[in-house]
Order: sequence, then structure tokens, then C-alpha cells
Amino acid sequence: MREMVLVGFLQAQNCSNFSASWRHPDGRTDFMTADFYQHIGRVLEEGKFQLAFFDDRLSMPEFQSGNYQEAVANGVRCVKLDALTCMTAIGMATKRLGLGVTYSTTYYEPFHVARAFATLDQLTGGRAAWNIVTSLNDAEARNMGREALPEHDERYDRADEFLEVVLGHWDTWEDDALVIDRKTGFFAHPEKVKRIEHEGRFFKSRGPFTVPRSAQGHPVLIQAGQSGRGKRFASEWGELIFVYNLGVEAGRKSYADLKASCAATGRDPDTMKIAALVYPVVAETRAEAEDKRALLETLPKEIDSLLLLTEAMNFDFGSKPLDEPFTDAELKSISGLHTMRDRVLAATGGRNPTVREFIQITGRGRLQNPWVGSPKEVADMFEEHFTAPACDGFVVGATSVPGTYEDFVKFVVPELQRRGLFQKDYKGSTLRENIGLPRPDVGKWRSVRRG
Ligand SMILES: Cc1cc2nc3c(=O)[nH]c(=O)nc-3n(C[C@H](O)[C@H](O)[C@H](O)COP(=O)(O)O)c2cc1C
Repeated sequence: MREMVLVGFLQAQNCSNFSASWRHPDGRTDFMTADFYQHIGRVLEEGKFQLAFFDDRLSMPEFQSGNYQEAVANGVRCVKLDALTCMTAIGMATKRLGLGVTYSTTYYEPFHVARAFATLDQLTGGRAAWNIVTSLNDAEARNMGREALPEHDERYDRADEFLEVVLGHWDTWEDDALVIDRKTGFFAHPEKVKRIEHEGRFFKSRGPFTVPRSAQGHPVLIQAGQSGRGKRFASEWGELIFVYNLGVEAGRKSYADLKASCAATGRDPDTMKIAALVYPVVAETRAEAEDKRALLETLPKEIDSLLLLTEAMNFDFGSKPLDEPFTDAELKSISGLHTMRDRVLAATGGRNPTVREFIQITGRGRLQNPWVGSPKEVADMFEEHFTAPACDGFVVGATSVPGTYEDFVKFVVPELQRRGLFQKDYKGSTLRENIGLPRPDVGKWRSVRRG
């Protein structure tokens, strides 16, 4: 029977993706300790989650006037630790849990990213995954030696070449290259370790790469592109795809489309798993879960939404009165998440939205379409989406940390296991074994990619 993939959505921050989570009375505030992250890792592993995953952004949210002080005063994602370091701490406290981290192709060098993730993969016995993003806003650009975010499709062109370099490096060492014979002093077969000699439009990298292949070959590739260009990138490279929860019907169509575009690139669509982002709020009874929701709804402030919309859209949401409609030029100048802008336009029927409508429709900074109920009711929603199928699994977002993960593991996981929808134990020791992805052969991606 088909079993779902469960991913814990984590932030190496003072709050979760629901930024008001730090104001929750039950939330932990020691987010700058290893124990905070290791506790979450242990909870997820007890619940047999296949993967823990950190999102990332390379700046604080700030208004384009340069005002970051509101983000600091209100604790709106203003603390962001290095996610790979935090994930290494989780890796040291767990044995089977997969370890996913976001790194941007727009600002890093491929050699650096290839080595950082290959190292995590080695140290954890083949449990690493990389969430490939192209970044969103000018504040990130200004921290990373640029003035402005490069144009959307151009970022994906660079990401394509970035992947060629990273995968080239990850293929440098053949699986049987290492010998390590102390008696004869023979370390490894030199003919099984090659340079990549890459010279392209964006990058130059010679090799040879300095980390041999891991137990799972190389880290799993995660992607979450939602635009046409982003989806093309995802279907060519992505092994685990994150999508927003569109509801069961739209989700089913989007799932079929993504699988078909994966197949159209010559890949086996089973080598691409799709996981939808959801925010469960669960308790022993529906009434208790509703009380939890009522408390959560009191936590966000309007400033959270304005800052987070500015961050995501790369447009200054602090610069306009709440009820003034956007001009055509302003809508066009949004260079961050186009898909979010387009969703708002679809909801207003094409009429130019106001700032308030952006807040209401996107739910950014607020409780976004939570799945609230008793264990059975919440498990029903998971089952309906999974069996439709609108996805192969779920990215479980937190509204209280670590409470959301603890509640989910206590209440929902046993119910999903009872229904045969989720694993009772890990299938193997590597992340690939646990989410049903093949171990890649050296060089295989070259024959699939663009013929
Ligand atoms: C579950 C999920 C997590 C994401 N995490 C990040 C992240 O950590 N950093 C980031 O810059 N973008 C993140 N994104 C945004 C995507 O990478 C992507 O840019 C976005 O979905 C828009 O698609 P597009 O790039 O094709 O326009 C995430 C998206 C989803 C659905």
C-alpha cells in the first residue's frame, strides 16, 4: 500500500513560518540553543517523520524605506541562524530522520554548496537533502554583494547551471573509488576521481571535488517552484517537491500536471514525490482544538503581515494606506512571489487589490487555512488529500513550537498508522530509502536532463 511522506517544516529562527508563534504562551524561547532543535528532531523521529526541513532567507524582513526596526521590535523573523549548522545539531541527536536545508542558488557558489551538503550527508549516513531556492527580495541581495534581486527567470537559468555544477561535483568520485589500504598505502583509485572542468555562462569550477559519494549517492534535491519557469525547473531536477495546499480538487489537478511534466522530461514520475504544506491544529477533542485555534488567532499583529508581504513580494507594503488599491504599475513591479500576486488577482476577479485584500487573501502573517479538529477529523483531511491523490505527503507547518510537532506525533501519527497510510517504522537508514527514491547512478542525471 502507498504510504505518505511526512516532513516537519522547521525554522532556525525565533518563530515558525507563522511568525506570531513566538508570542504563544506555550512556545519555547531557547531557539538559540542546540537543545531546542534537537528536541524537535527527536519528536519527529519518534513520530517516524521521514524528513525535518529548515526554510531560509538571507535577510530580516524590512520595509523598503530601510525600516527593519519594526521587525526587531515585533520579533517578525528577525533572528535567523545558519540552518545547516542547526541541522547538523539535529543530525547528531537522531538516527533515521532525514535532514533538509534551504540554500540559495542566487548567492552562493556551487562548489561551496556541494561540499557543505555532501559533508552533512556523510556525517549522517546519507540523510541529507537540499531545498533549492532562487531567493526573493532586495534585502537579501544587499546582504550578499548585490543591489537588487536578479530577474525571476534569469535566477532559474543560473539555478540550472548551478545544479549542473553541483551534480557534476557529486559525481566526481565513483562509488568504488575509495580503497584505504593502510598496509600498501594505497588510498583511492585516481582514475575513479575526475575533474568536472566546468565553464559556463555563470560559473567556472574545475574540481576534483573533495568529498566522496555518500551512502545514498548524494543528497536528495527538494524544490518548490510554483511559476511556469519554477515548475519546469522542479520537474527537471526536483526529487521532492513542496507545494502550497490548493484544496483537494485543484491539488489533484496540479499533482497530475507536475507528474506529467516530470515524465515529459524523460524521468520516471515515481522518482518525484510531491508534498503539500498544511497547518494542523489538533487536540484530543474538536472542542479543545477549536480553543487552540481561538488562542492562535489572537497572536498575529497587522505589522507581521505587512512585513512578511514585503519580504515575499519584494514590494513595500508599508508604503500604502491599507484600503488604497494598487496601481497597474505597482502590481507589475512586484518582483518576488509572482504566484502569490496572481492568486490575489484571481481572488479579486482581476480587480486591482488593496493592501488589506493582500493580507486577507494570502493570509501572510496570519493563521493560514489550518486543519483543525480531533485526531480522527484531522487524519481524515490528510487521507482525503493523499488518496485523491493531491500529493504523496505533507509538509507539516507549526503554529506553536514545539507544541505543534508534539501534538501531531501524539494524536495524528498513530491514527494515520492505524489506517495503513503512514509507516510504523523506518524502511532503511538513508533518506532515499525512507521516501522511496532510487540511489542515483553516477552520471545518470546527464542522460535524463534535456535528452
Ligand atoms: C513549503 C515551501 C517552502 C519554501 N521555502 C522557501 C525558503 O526557505 N526560501 C525561499 O527563498 N523560498 C522558499 N519557498 C518558495 C519557493 O522556493 C518558490 O520560490 C515559490 O514557491 C515561488 O515559485 P517560483 O520561484 O517558481 O516563482 C518555499 C515554498 C514552499 C511551498
